[in-house]
Amino acid sequence: MSAALPRHVAIIMDGNGRWAERRGLARHAGHKEGIPAVRMCVEECVRRGIKALTLFAFSSENWRRPPAEVSNLMTLFVDALEREVADLHRNGVRMRIIGDRHALSVRLQARVAEAERHTAGNTQLDLQIAMSYGGRWDIVQAARRLAATVGAGALRAADIDEARFGAELALSGVPDPDLFIRTGGERRISNFLLWNLAYTELWFTDTLWPDFDVAAFEAALAHFAGRDRRYGLTAAQQGEAESA
Ligand code: FPP
Repeated sequence: MSAALPRHVAIIMDGNGRWAERRGLARHAGHKEGIPAVRMCVEECVRRGIKALTLFAFSSENWRRPPAEVSNLMTLFVDALEREVADLHRNGVRMRIIGDRHALSVRLQARVAEAERHTAGNTQLDLQIAMSYGGRWDIVQAARRLAATVGAGALRAADIDEARFGAELALSGVPDPDLFIRTGGERRISNFLLWNLAYTELWFTDTLWPDFDVAAFEAALAHFAGRDRRYGLTAAQQGEAESA
């Protein structure tokens, strides 16, 4: 299927620290400068009718950063949620956090719960913010849940298929990302949505996250619109499937 517009965009927002360091600023200043780019992506998705957006804000591995940077990031998340939730709601965005939320501070967990509750009925855009998230963590917790269900006698191991497994993952209920964007120059998935990115088109840019603007987002969308997605079929089979 060659779709002009992705239904779901997933983004690794990389390069905040370098953006700040290049200006002689503390790394935290770069994280703060990343917020307008987040806002721009949300607004562009709503404006263009893209139905889902998943942002990697903090990975399972990011806990190993210097404590001051982790603490600053957590405060930034609390403040950003507080400031942005009314606008998100006005734009019809349903926001939720994916990841190991129990690892977050009690204060952040409370903010998250409030933002999720406030926006739960919205239907314009599903916004997932990955915090304390890792693709391997996601798969392991799905396996654990299924094992418990099998152990309780409510499911036969033989009945576990891809759909049943996917239903236990953090992105359950949201279609897999069609387009993955990573800023900041690295060409890696870095333990982001390992299961869900199986057929996703990948787009990388050297642009640092705070500099990611509408033109850069449009370049990623243009790349996606030009891709021929075959899901393992031959081009001829795909043509038949599309005309059926
Ligand atoms: C990676 O850049 C970025 C982060 C670890 C944090 C990203 C968070 C934001 C942009 C704020 C978003 C807030 C909400 C509520 C969605 P890096 O520090 O790894 O940059 P570097 O590779 O240059 O060091």
